[in-house]
Amino acid sequence: MAEARREHFGGRLAIIMAMAGSAIGLGNIWRFPYLAGEHGGAAFIFVYIIASIFLSMPIFLAEAIIGRRSHANTYGAMEKLAPGTKWKWLSILTILAPLIIVSYYSVVGGWSIEYLVKSLAFSFNSTPKEEITSMFAGFISQPWMPIVCHTAFLGTCAVILTAGVKSGIEKFSNWSVPILFVLILIILVYSLTLPGAMEGVEYMIKPDFSKIDSEVILAAMGQSFYSLSLGVGTILVYSSYVSKNENLLVSGFGTAIFDLMFALMAGFAVMTAVFSAGVKPGAGPGLIFESLPFVFATMAESAPVVSGVISILFFVTILVSALTSGVSLMEVGVAYLVEEKKMRRGVATFTVFAGTWTLGCLCSLSFGPMNEFRIFGNSLFEFCDWISSNFLMAIGAMLFSLFVGWKMKKSDVYDEFTNGGTLRFNVRCFKAVYFLVRYIAPLVIGIIFLSGLLL
Ligand code: PFF
Repeated sequence: MAEARREHFGGRLAIIMAMAGSAIGLGNIWRFPYLAGEHGGAAFIFVYIIASIFLSMPIFLAEAIIGRRSHANTYGAMEKLAPGTKWKWLSILTILAPLIIVSYYSVVGGWSIEYLVKSLAFSFNSTPKEEITSMFAGFISQPWMPIVCHTAFLGTCAVILTAGVKSGIEKFSNWSVPILFVLILIILVYSLTLPGAMEGVEYMIKPDFSKIDSEVILAAMGQSFYSLSLGVGTILVYSSYVSKNENLLVSGFGTAIFDLMFALMAGFAVMTAVFSAGVKPGAGPGLIFESLPFVFATMAESAPVVSGVISILFFVTILVSALTSGVSLMEVGVAYLVEEKKMRRGVATFTVFAGTWTLGCLCSLSFGPMNEFRIFGNSLFEFCDWISSNFLMAIGAMLFSLFVGWKMKKSDVYDEFTNGGTLRFNVRCFKAVYFLVRYIAPLVIGIIFLSGLLL
């Protein structure tokens, strides 16, 4: 049987590393700091942490329960657990959404390759400061180089995926996630020593609760889903490689803690550096590609070598973290093609690569030659980011929790969550988790989602 041939992750740590690899990515280093910057710093972080505990954790567990119960890809999972029902639309949504995400994600991953090369050449030290911010706009609007970098990024993900679940995904995340923590720690310690860094720390820890409105709540909730890779099937598929005797609560909790720690460390590192160079925190998506190189150039005036080294470490961190997430996004499509269309893994990976590469090229061109092409006023890149992170992820997360809360038998959910009643702590938490999954998560997402649409 195909089931017998399915690969499994090698153990608890390998599972957490792979899931944390998916969770930790551009969302932590690129999105989290600029969203926090735009939405009032500590106030945003406060809502983000609350949303992570009460919404994201239960949804993570819901996805993990479906994945491990079915030991199948997103389509196979619905076919096994709800055969012949409309739930198959959920699986179609969760095959398409990660492919849309990885297409534009890879474009940003490509930018980080270019910026790593620039750091290795110590370019931020030699370019006049006034030109640093315009350098980014100049680069992304070119037609060719960003596409070359996007190809290199996506190609690297594909190579890792071709090697398989154990020898590819597991091996890569096993060494890269610990390295990412070491790198971000070095960067953080350095940023905290910069003059004026404390202003950045204050911005991140002193909440101004008057800043919290529905826009902040929506952004924080969306970011929490995005950061934990929820609602688009990656956690489902990774959990389908988890063996029956592992503890899903521990995997979920471990992943969430690593992800939160990394986001906070990256947030503090970026904000302290940004404040110390006198740059505005609410610079938006350009924060790490425009403002930070400016910060590196400012640091280089007094310490050129240290600034050069830190910029290299920073862009390596972004690149590696983005790769582990890109791999998880592509794996959803690969698992579907291998298991449902019976393709060989290499062919399946190439097929996913070809589709996402094409969409990614169009996203990349939307900063330059295709900028005139607009969907509801957005460029293709902005549209893909918006539709996936504000719309598809929220819908997916809501449907996953409805599926576990209302469609699956409660006894099956209990069985999966507590490993047949053998995990004592999980038995004790079951009621609360089930309540959050069945009522709170779908309700809150529904309300916030509607209010966001009506605003
Ligand atoms: N969690 C990733 C990040 O924070 O960068 C992004 C991501 C990966 C989103 C995988 C969704 C996903 F399925």
